[in-house]
Amino acid sequence: MTQRAAVILAAGKGTRMKSEQPKVLHTIAGKAMVHFPIEAANRLGIERTVLVVGHGAEAVRQETGDCGIAYAVQAEQLGTGHALLCAREALMEFDGALILLAGDVPLIQTDTLEDLVRQHEQAQAAVTVLTMELDNPFGYGRIVREDGAVVRIVEQKDATPSEQALNEVNTGIYCFDARFVFESLGKLGTDNAQGEYYLTDVLEMAVKEGRIVEAALLNCPEEAMGINDRAQLADAAERIRRRLNREHMLAGVTLIDPAQTYIDAGVEIGPDSLIHPGVHLKGKTRIGAGCEIEPGVVVQDCLVADRCHLKAGSVLENSEIGAESAVGPMAHLRPGTQLLGENKIGNFVETKKAVIGKGSKASHLTYLGDCELGQRVNVGCGTITCNYDGVNKFRTEIGDDVFVGSDVQLVAPVKVGRGALIAAGATITKDVPEDALAIARAPQKVLEGWAAKRRAEQKK
Ligand code: UD1
Ligand code: CA
Repeated sequence: MTQRAAVILAAGKGTRMKSEQPKVLHTIAGKAMVHFPIEAANRLGIERTVLVVGHGAEAVRQETGDCGIAYAVQAEQLGTGHALLCAREALMEFDGALILLAGDVPLIQTDTLEDLVRQHEQAQAAVTVLTMELDNPFGYGRIVREDGAVVRIVEQKDATPSEQALNEVNTGIYCFDARFVFESLGKLGTDNAQGEYYLTDVLEMAVKEGRIVEAALLNCPEEAMGINDRAQLADAAERIRRRLNREHMLAGVTLIDPAQTYIDAGVEIGPDSLIHPGVHLKGKTRIGAGCEIEPGVVVQDCLVADRCHLKAGSVLENSEIGAESAVGPMAHLRPGTQLLGENKIGNFVETKKAVIGKGSKASHLTYLGDCELGQRVNVGCGTITCNYDGVNKFRTEIGDDVFVGSDVQLVAPVKVGRGALIAAGATITKDVPEDALAIARAPQKVLEGWAAKRRAEQKK
């Protein structure tokens, strides 16, 4: 096997996206589009990947900074030939198969590229172009063959009516002999309808030099689908979602309606988990085995251990959920929440920077922020940790086996010792020692007959 390198073109502006953002940074399944071809290339065992950047170069570099790739800058978009030529310096030493991809063609599969490179190497070709047959080839470069062999590619705007009738087209993906292509690109002209340096012209040069030019026909044209506008972006996202969801299902995850389940690339889910429609699993989320996630749950960057039940409408962000916990319906776990296991966080409970010990529960209508709870704590309905005085945040600490009655305010900083009991309706401003009872409410006054008397007065 010869060495392999990849060049990914991503300098274009993407005018039809009508966006402030460079096209290749628009996301699919939670990931900037440009990562899809980068990863497809990586899986080929690539020596080096060069990303050609131009519009929004700095933002694109930043997004891909951890990908281990090199960059080439195309300051002015003078055509695809010029774009590849910009990568020459970054591949000075390279001799072998050069795979050319586009940053806005995210559906391309590694298997397809593997077949392309293999055909290229076996034929010892100078160029192997990936082609497809389209019922409506409008806009694409047409593959011109003579006696079956590819002789050149003609662009839509340069094509004669009979060439326009050809329906085998250029996908824009190729494998080149690196030495050959960089030499040829230096000789390109711009004598064409668009006044651009056409990469496609190197095919004709190869033929003229008696070099071998191959074409590999793509069976599934979806893979070469380019993203030019947001309608195509949604279309590609749907196809990628379908692929990802299928992988999860084949790995043992039940998706009740995969068409309505939104799982970002890279999210992991254990077997025998059951996911209802309308669920969004985002970012670096990992879901354990045997979990159930009900409709409308949004999980961003969370670790959810085995056998958890996330009930309808809950939102979880940057949190860790220990095994066998139940969350929701309608709970909001904000960043820094750590449920240590067997917890119950019920409806309309909000947590933030809250470490909640094993077996502890807050079943209804509660805010727990900047706090640490021990094990088996029961937090009554309507409890609030008052953690903020308008300037600073303060912590609440609650020991094991504490019982917090309903409608309690814990004015932080405050500590409640293990085994203590806090009576309903208390506003706790001082520490509560272990095993104590704390009551902090106005004593009840009863005025016999008062209400009846008032009713009588009102009738008059
Ligand atoms: C090109 C091909 C055409 C093929 C089509 C497939 C040429 C001359 N034509 O068409 O045969 O059917 O792709 O989609 O190559 N880019 C740059 N810098 C530039 C120009 C383009 O980085 O100066 C990038 C774009 O961002 C895009 C890719 O190259 O990712 C293809 O460019 P685009 O303008 O979409 O392709 P066409 O020239 O229309
Ligand atoms: Ca163009």
